[in-house]
Amino acid sequence: MPSPRLTSLSRGSGCGCKLPAADLHALLGDLELPRDERVLVGIETGDDAAVIRLSDELALVQTIDFFTPIVDDPHAFGAIAAANALSDVYAMGGTPLSALSILAFPLERLGSEILKSILDGALRVLNEAETPLVGGHSIEDPEPKFGLAVTGTIDPDHMLANSGARDGDALVLTKPLGTGAIATMAKHGEVSPELLAQAIEVMSTLNRSAGSRALEAGAHAAADVTGFGLLGHLHAIARESGLCAEVRAEAVPALPGVKQLLAREEAISGGTRRVADWAATFTNFNPDVADWQRWLLADATTSGGLIVAVPAGRASEIPGQVFGRLVSGPAGIINVS
Ligand code: CO
Ligand code: CO
Repeated sequence: MPSPRLTSLSRGSGCGCKLPAADLHALLGDLELPRDERVLVGIETGDDAAVIRLSDELALVQTIDFFTPIVDDPHAFGAIAAANALSDVYAMGGTPLSALSILAFPLERLGSEILKSILDGALRVLNEAETPLVGGHSIEDPEPKFGLAVTGTIDPDHMLANSGARDGDALVLTKPLGTGAIATMAKHGEVSPELLAQAIEVMSTLNRSAGSRALEAGAHAAADVTGFGLLGHLHAIARESGLCAEVRAEAVPALPGVKQLLAREEAISGGTRRVADWAATFTNFNPDVADWQRWLLADATTSGGLIVAVPAGRASEIPGQVFGRLVSGPAGIINVS
């Protein structure tokens, strides 16, 4: 009997299956979180990873990311999941040290070849990142899920935390948007193999050089674009830095073909709709901004690029596109024109 398509085994896919940010935030606000002065970046700021001080010059970066299949190709799924998990370390300005895998898999139904292929894809990306896989945990589950817990190191004086951005910083995005829409339509069998291959390439590309170039350019803050869309992750930087963001929709890079896809209802996933609803509470759109661009900015992304806040004069040192800036104004508000 042929194996079912990987993406047919789950309802959500990739980072689109994240719990809604607004609900998580409200819930965390009700909990009493322990204080520890060694924790330099913790749960409260919506950062990509936690940072724990070990000495004056050295801190640990810790993060975990896992999700259901975003594509049917198991090797690509493993590669994307690995690039996505490593990305949170790069987004803090850190260097990954080691990784543990987290796996849920219907072994009897799908067979060991598919599992081997997922792990193989992840290992290819981990090798590229010079990060050893040192262990993991796996369970039997009808809905496949895969990801990594990554530990890294960082210089505590050179972190790209959400709260570090300054008035006047330029905003750079290092990968084009639209992978959420492409993956959603691929699930319906409605994108060309070329477009899907392009999206897979973007999602499995490491944010390693983007992170190191951001540090070298004197960047103040960074976050990777994942399930909360460009608007959600930019909101966290603006809010935590006490600034307001200005975005030029025309300047936001998109994968080719995404404009046409986003004209169709079916391309907009439940995850993207949730982001758009939430983002409406802190985003003002100029009436000229086209509908497809509004959806693009909310696209629930998997393994997206870094949003980097960098002194305007040095923005060109980062491989990517300048799409806006941070200015003084109501914290966390985003004005899109
Ligand atoms: Co992240
Ligand atoms: Co993450």
